[in-house]
Amino acid sequence: MDVSEVTRNLSSLGGAKWDMHVRARALAAAGHPIIELTIGEPDEPMAPALVPAMAQALQAGRVGYSNGRGEAALLDALAARYTARRGRVFSADNFLAFPGTQTALYALMRGLVNPSDEVVVFDPCYATYEGVVAGADATMVSAPLNPDTGFSIDFDALEAVLSPRTRAILLNNPHNPAGSLLDEGACMRLGELAVQRGLWLICDEVYEDLIYDNRPLVSPLNHAAFDGHALGCASISKSHAAPGLRSGWIVGAEEVVGQLVPLAETMLFGNQPFIADATAAALGDSGETAARMRESLRRRAQLVTAALDGVAGLRVAEPQAGMFALVGVGGSDLGLDGHAFASRLLEQAGVAVMPGTSFGAVTQDWIRLSLTVPDEVLQRACDRIAALCA
Ligand SMILES: Cc1ncc(COP(=O)(O)O)c(C=O)c1O
Repeated sequence: MDVSEVTRNLSSLGGAKWDMHVRARALAAAGHPIIELTIGEPDEPMAPALVPAMAQALQAGRVGYSNGRGEAALLDALAARYTARRGRVFSADNFLAFPGTQTALYALMRGLVNPSDEVVVFDPCYATYEGVVAGADATMVSAPLNPDTGFSIDFDALEAVLSPRTRAILLNNPHNPAGSLLDEGACMRLGELAVQRGLWLICDEVYEDLIYDNRPLVSPLNHAAFDGHALGCASISKSHAAPGLRSGWIVGAEEVVGQLVPLAETMLFGNQPFIADATAAALGDSGETAARMRESLRRRAQLVTAALDGVAGLRVAEPQAGMFALVGVGGSDLGLDGHAFASRLLEQAGVAVMPGTSFGAVTQDWIRLSLTVPDEVLQRACDRIAALCA
């Protein structure tokens, strides 16, 4: 028996993007001292509000079935959080609970896009986006970001790839891997484009709390004019250093979010009430975990720039947000692209980084460093990168 076409299409994605990470883990398991800068696992302990709230919920027996939309306390906490941050009023009806941003993205894609549709994804992009689009049996079309303008949106390039089949634009802001931020002008242009062309704007905002200078997030969701086009998703994976709890949500106009409830029921039959309770408590905390992460991530981003920018033909795109820094290796005398460079770095220097090719064609000559290791480890890794190039 054959599995479905979607399953077959997905089988050829994933694996190759993570090969450097898998090789690094295998070397480490074999006893080699590898510095791992591949994935972005928060290096802070999870937010202190989570465990007591979860323990209390478990003791209270909060393990029954939930409902398709999510627990009331969680939806109310989300409404309060977005109302406080986004300059407009949100209610519980604007939200739908999911186990993490990843499932929320899958649901948005399945819920908004038809099989023959095209979805525009910016290049570079987060490594699972290709799979998310393929999972909806849609076609991914890439619009290059411009490394020379801090990986900002190139609207000529974007408009050039729009077609009558375009149904959605998948936006990641703050951006992984570039660590760049959308500005208000670009946000308005994207929103207006979505309204004019009848497109969905799917906004992955999982790094909202990790903007180093803590400025409010610019987002199409902040504007009533884009309601009915802009849908967002996020989670507590990064903000509360709790990716393993799998607690996230969809946010958007009431009518659209309401229509997605049956899809959520089909996928999940409701989230876990004890995780919802803990998430609601954490969303109302002081934000100390995210504040500490912002501080250490900013410091480490500066460390990478100081250690590598301009050294032996390297170029650092210093991030403004998130857990990663992109380093351009195309100018180095080694004459290697990002993948070959990452391979040599792992084999000769014991430093594991992600090759830019895992995120798109634009970053073919780049590598991505995770900033989630202690400063001295990151410094050692940078020294080894510089030494490899020298
Ligand atoms: C851009 C982006 N979106 C989504 C995710 C997945 O987030 P979650 O843990 O909420 O599913 C990640 C995780 O690294 C990410 O970088």
